[in-house]
Amino acid sequence: MAVASDLRSMLKARQEAVDAALQSTLDRYGRDVPRMLAEAIRYSLQAPGKRLRPILVLLACEAAGGSDAQALPAACAVEMVHTYSLIHDDLPAMDDDDLRRGLPTCHTKFGEALAILAGDGLLTLAFQVLAESYPPESAAVSCLDLARGAGIAGMVGGQVLDLAAEGKIDASEQPNSAADLEAIHRMKTGALFNASLRLGVLAAQGEPNSLRCRVISDKLDTYGKAFGLAFQIADDLLDVEGSSEKAGKRVGKDSARGKLTYPRLLGGDDSRQRANRLVQEAVAAVDGLGEAGEYLAALVRYVMERDK
Ligand code: IPE
Ligand code: IPE
Ligand code: MG
Ligand code: MG
Ligand code: MG
Repeated sequence: MAVASDLRSMLKARQEAVDAALQSTLDRYGRDVPRMLAEAIRYSLQAPGKRLRPILVLLACEAAGGSDAQALPAACAVEMVHTYSLIHDDLPAMDDDDLRRGLPTCHTKFGEALAILAGDGLLTLAFQVLAESYPPESAAVSCLDLARGAGIAGMVGGQVLDLAAEGKIDASEQPNSAADLEAIHRMKTGALFNASLRLGVLAAQGEPNSLRCRVISDKLDTYGKAFGLAFQIADDLLDVEGSSEKAGKRVGKDSARGKLTYPRLLGGDDSRQRANRLVQEAVAAVDGLGEAGEYLAALVRYVMERDK
């Protein structure tokens, strides 16, 4: 399929568009910010991430008939939330990592206090960008969807369960079953992918409740759920089988820490099988969404093959 072989150039073009939008957003909102705070935020946000979440915003917006120009503010907002989550995930109190996106982690470079505050700043700025970039109704719904995905029943809640499973947070019942693991992955990782897709549709549509908008949103919701879980299984596999040089972050740490992961629970082969079934589900869900749907299908396959 032409689109699949074209995926890499599509990814590169979209990554560049996102990087340029992130840069101009920081230029715009970075005035009157303490210099060291602006520096720490730029350092982490502009480090070479894959920009998968913003690319999902752009593709969802395209599937709903919108343009990149409409999607880019929301794309920047989700990347800001994601980057904040990485800064905090790497802190000594959480996963205690010193390498991220091929560079020293934010707290290694700037100290813990500034890293925590850079994360807080990125999280807050994301909502400011949404509120200032869209008409009131779609801005409000976008803020709601992003808060749900990133918040206490989404990413933050999932991070708590992830740390409880390894014993770093005291819990009355330590998560340890396959159902617990799926819930952790859906919350800590999947919820933000689903929010990204929703924000893309909202960016394209003046009326968030139109029938067309709902049909596309339902398809993308199914896609996002399968994509998010497959993505985190691939991330767990990378930690076991990948290289730190290619991934740009330390590998081999999950089992040393006693994390609850797919390879630990199912082994490598069954984890891959589970992920491959999810890829099929995701691909089926975006059938009928035109060229954007074909790119989404190619993207979820790429997620399983990546080495970073
Ligand atoms: C890493 O996400 C954190 C997880 C949810 C596993 P990515 O693999 O998308 O990281 P970047 O943005 O490309 O650095
Ligand atoms: C992180 O999961 C999920 C987040 C919400 C940041 P991991 O802890 O497995 O991510 P990496 O492997 O450090 O990127
Ligand atoms: Mg973690
Ligand atoms: Mg981590
Ligand atoms: Mg990981």
